[in-house]
Amino acid sequence: MSTSVAIVGTGYVGLTTGACLAHLGHRVVCADIDPDRVHTLQGGSVPFYEPGLAELVAEGTSSGRLRFVLGGAAAAADADLVFLCVPTPQADDGSVDLSYVENAARSIAAALRPGAVVVNKSTVPVGSAAIVERIIDRDDVSVVSNPEFLREGSAVSDFLHPDRVVIGADSAEAGRRVAALYQSVEAPVLVTDPASAETIKYAANAFLATKISFVNAIAAVCEAVGADIIDVVRGLGLDRRIGSEFLRPGPGWGGSCFPKDTRALVAIAESGGYDFKLLRGVIDSNAEQQARMLAKVRDALGGELAGATIAAWGLAFKANTDDVRDSPAVSIVESLVAAGACVRAYDPQATVALPGVEQVPSALDACDGADVLVVLTEWPEFIGADLGGVAARLRRRAVVDTRNVLDPGEAGRVGLRLIGVGR
Ligand code: UDX
Repeated sequence: MSTSVAIVGTGYVGLTTGACLAHLGHRVVCADIDPDRVHTLQGGSVPFYEPGLAELVAEGTSSGRLRFVLGGAAAAADADLVFLCVPTPQADDGSVDLSYVENAARSIAAALRPGAVVVNKSTVPVGSAAIVERIIDRDDVSVVSNPEFLREGSAVSDFLHPDRVVIGADSAEAGRRVAALYQSVEAPVLVTDPASAETIKYAANAFLATKISFVNAIAAVCEAVGADIIDVVRGLGLDRRIGSEFLRPGPGWGGSCFPKDTRALVAIAESGGYDFKLLRGVIDSNAEQQARMLAKVRDALGGELAGATIAAWGLAFKANTDDVRDSPAVSIVESLVAAGACVRAYDPQATVALPGVEQVPSALDACDGADVLVVLTEWPEFIGADLGGVAARLRRRAVVDTRNVLDPGEAGRVGLRLIGVGR
């Protein structure tokens, strides 16, 4: 059954949600407050890199099931369901800034049709459904929480093939109507209350961040005892209770979600009188991980960063995205420059303008005239890189591979000293 849906906010959550719901057969109008963004989308361009999204936007636009308008009220006026997909940035004290959500709710309140359902899709603190209800202040409108579990770089497939759909609704009818949107999606649908749905989202991200911080700490232990993290992780992952996902050591977790959501959960717990020590430890150890990577580069240079030229492969916070928000790669590059080095950086998609950083058009260009190479993002093209070409260019023939993506045998064959994480 086709439902008319409005999406308020056309960032990677809103645009992915809108394009995928149109792909599922619904009639979707996406709204933004930024006229340039609306114009870009109406022109058929997607303003950020997300594999598969541009194709779905083109499909929806040509089928007439996906449109773009300026302003939430224009979109909400003809919609049965209105998704709020606006930013929920982190305030200075770690709490979540809900002003975008509140403004979006205010902007649609009068335009909503009787019986409409407002759906919180953005990651919002526990209790936000009640806040949106108070702002809309209409007893003929329901508010439902439907948190997103989209990873950048795989957002489209995560939407169309989710592990689960979570719906938090006080009204059973409203919950059923939101669940009906996903009827052609093969996934278990968990219907609960709004607070539980909102908590599931934070708990999921906090647990995934905990897994990564844990494996980064185990990598440090491996270095101390001479174990190989690759085999240790394999042995861990074979335990069905642990699983092998999200156990890849690296420079630490980043992006626009984990740093924000982990701090928000600590703040949410604290506001409820609980000191979430475990999660604070996960956050602190993540910051230490970047310092550990910096120390590896300093060691590769014989102890001195000042005056060195360092090739950096990767600026995005992870592969398959151009997003550099809270990217460990960027913060490590900034720390290298702050310590007196200059950096020649290459990333297939991401770009940054940073003092002391020259961005170059290819991986091997970055190595020209460099002392050492540091691999910071696990882009597929780095895995099969020409290490002979790297060895021929680097003055010190040393590579710090913070993602363990390069082959130690190949590195040895071409005379490169390969320094990994946990091995
Ligand atoms: C995350 C959640 O996965 C997603 O469900 C939620 O909706 C939004 O936040 P995202 O931030 O896009 O998605 O990235 P994700 O793939 O989770 O990676 C987060 C960080 O962890 C990245 O910096 C990544 O490099 C790092 N990571 C991930 C590791 O260091 N090791 C791993 O094994 C996996």
